[in-house]
Amino acid sequence: MNKNIILNNGEKMPIIGIGTDLVRDGLEVKTMIKSAIYAGYRLIDTADLYGNERGIGEAIKECIDEGIVKREDLFIQTKAPFHFDRYNYTYKSLDVQLQRLGLDYVDMYLLHHAYRGSFTWRWQVMDIYRALETLYRQGKTKNIGVCNFGKMHLNYLLSECDIKPQINQIEFHPQHQQRGVVELCKKNDIQVQGWGTLNNGRIFDEPLFDEIGKNYNKNAAQIAIKYAIQKGVAPLVRSQKPNRQKEMLDVFNFEINSADMKKLDDLDGGEFSHNHEGEPIEEAIKSKQIEIKKYKMFGFLPFMKKYKKNRRITKYYLFGIPIVKTDKKIIEIPKDKQTKTLAGVERERERESNPANPQKSKKGSLK
Ligand SMILES: NC(=O)c1ccc[n+]([C@@H]2O[C@H](COP(=O)([O-])OP(=O)(O)OC[C@H]3O[C@@H](n4cnc5c(N)ncnc54)[C@H](OP(=O)(O)O)[C@@H]3O)[C@@H](O)[C@H]2O)c1
Repeated sequence: MNKNIILNNGEKMPIIGIGTDLVRDGLEVKTMIKSAIYAGYRLIDTADLYGNERGIGEAIKECIDEGIVKREDLFIQTKAPFHFDRYNYTYKSLDVQLQRLGLDYVDMYLLHHAYRGSFTWRWQVMDIYRALETLYRQGKTKNIGVCNFGKMHLNYLLSECDIKPQINQIEFHPQHQQRGVVELCKKNDIQVQGWGTLNNGRIFDEPLFDEIGKNYNKNAAQIAIKYAIQKGVAPLVRSQKPNRQKEMLDVFNFEINSADMKKLDDLDGGEFSHNHEGEPIEEAIKSKQIEIKKYKMFGFLPFMKKYKKNRRITKYYLFGIPIVKTDKKIIEIPKDKQTKTLAGVERERERESNPANPQKSKKGSLK
């Protein structure tokens, strides 16, 4: 059983959605999406980047033909591609994506990322977002939104846009809560949709989820999903296993109490599941150290500090003259500053060095 929430334009969106990142096009994604629809999922998340829109379209068509759902029961969301000719390309791209999905409209069209690290991100973001606004006005998408927007990106977008985004899809789980951006979205009536709800399978290395789960007769995945919902975040989950898909919708018959919510809150600052800004921190958890690069103009004027693991570049040249020099410094992280998820990494090492020890699988006790 899934439930809906109302977005800032009055449209309904299912709270829990099924994600399809890393799921191959064709039979693989088709089988996954059909079983998800049978289980009760109505929100399906994909992207041009995932390359699986065609298989998803086939699954949707078959489920409609079988009378399991009607088109209007489903909430299909996809994301604009990465490219250079941005407004025109994005504008035309939705037609191609609709064709692949076999649909006349999508329920949500998203800008995939905020072009972090690019000096021209403001221009890039607005150029694509303008195309999203046009497509929204034309009814080709019922809602529009953004992904991976931090506070800076969102504040800028809000100052420039004509149509406020309905959602901001960001990484969200107890080990990475992004409290500042979640707060900003709430203030502006933008729904946060969380990806990586299971930290890409890594929540199963943190025993607290199982411990709390025992209080409610729920498993770790259900606790992570419920945590997001109680924080006002609409979680996306991903599993190709029908039994797991079903379990993950069974979260509307209990509430995590405030003491347990507090324990989960305290996990914040841990692992990141993907290569976003947090990647070096994940490295730090494994190696217990962070590398900091200091960039200096003409070899002595400091102008930027960056946490990075790339060790290759040390100097930037202009016509053969070194203009930017980078200093590298490795700092050890004190034991008390290392996050709780370090325990998970250590257990994993233990398991690897002692395979004879019959313990739970890498991704947890739920098979
Ligand atoms: N906008 C963006 O930039 C962005 C980035 C990343 C993701 N997303 C979206 O968000 C969706 C969800 O995020 P995610 O893909 O990172 O997935 P996730 O839900 O955090 O984790 C999925 C992983 O957890 C495993 N898993 C699921 N249930 C389990 C259980 N009960 N026990 C043990 N393992 C379990 C799955 O394996 P099995 O399949 O074997 O169950 C899968 O490997 C994505 O699919 C995508 O649609 C968006």
